[in-house]
Amino acid sequence: MTPIQSSVRAIAFGAGLRPIAPPNQPETPVIPTIHRPRRLRRTETLRRMVRETVLRVEDLIYPLFVMAGENQQIEIPSMPGCYRYTLDLLLKEVQTAIDLGIGAIALFPLIAEDLKDNAGTESYNPKGLIPRTLRAIKQAFPDILAIADVALDPYSSQGHDGIVKDGKILNDETVAILVKQALTQAEAGADIVAPSDMMDGRIGAIRSALDAEGWINVGILAYSAKYASAYYGPFRDALDSAPKFGDKKTYQMDAANAREAIKEIDLDIAEGADIVMVKPALAYLDIIYQIKQHTHLPVAAYNVSGEYAIIKAAGLQGWIDEQKVILETLTSIKRAGADLILTYFAKDVALLLR
Ligand code: PBG
Repeated sequence: MTPIQSSVRAIAFGAGLRPIAPPNQPETPVIPTIHRPRRLRRTETLRRMVRETVLRVEDLIYPLFVMAGENQQIEIPSMPGCYRYTLDLLLKEVQTAIDLGIGAIALFPLIAEDLKDNAGTESYNPKGLIPRTLRAIKQAFPDILAIADVALDPYSSQGHDGIVKDGKILNDETVAILVKQALTQAEAGADIVAPSDMMDGRIGAIRSALDAEGWINVGILAYSAKYASAYYGPFRDALDSAPKFGDKKTYQMDAANAREAIKEIDLDIAEGADIVMVKPALAYLDIIYQIKQHTHLPVAAYNVSGEYAIIKAAGLQGWIDEQKVILETLTSIKRAGADLILTYFAKDVALLLR
């Protein structure tokens, strides 16, 4: 190696770093090209230097399922490795997440069937499961960012995100309940409320109610472009919240639409959303990309239960390298434009990034 070559190597790799690849060797060019993109892929150090997208533990939001009771955790059959926790064990799981560097959690409740009704009354019970959970979490871990889901489905005897009348989902009557639910969550300590119901006008109604009660610093993560998706199946198993009749197509979006997603985003931003979300993530990477180009707000994406189940199932069969597929998949969501990713893989990713 000439002195110039060796000083270039020292600059490129840092004096103390041992190159992983063998030193460059002269080769005789055969094809007449001056452009050789492979030059930048030659060593791990180079690849890291020119890497465009880097997944960080700060990007992750860990969704968690809570149930009433004590000292129990029940694995969700269609989501191996994910559990419904009673509050005492949930606190331990939150501690584990914090130890891994995870900064945010999103909470979903399993509500007993006898507490469900058509109007989702339990959703705004100040002594209900989610308010109790929020209080306990914020008391034990004041720094964790607690995100509470706003929607009626876990509380609905019909399994729908809104009040049902004559087979239809009422919009404005539902928004009135969602407002009460969001206020209850804010009082219990939620840092961010996350309406996932897709009723029209709910972001504006929740924002003005929060402000009127003094919760000016409680943020809104809006599930803005939420599609009517079969990828939510395992989540509905987890919460026993599948619709009792019909589907959610009169409120969640048609999978075939992209421009409508921009319309929904614009409405939610105008109504006061702080963060907008696309859900699911993987079949909708084009939507994430377009929305990132369209708004200056942070964009979140939900790597949903069905997406988790697919990777887990193939991983458990030994058909794919699960850890590599997880990192590649989450990187694709970030590369598409997501700033934040809700994922049941949060702990796995945090460990893999170490
Ligand atoms: C309910 C809600 C759903 C999810 C998050 N909030 C299900 C649904 O809309 O039916 C799905 C999350 C997942 O599948 O991981 N409003």
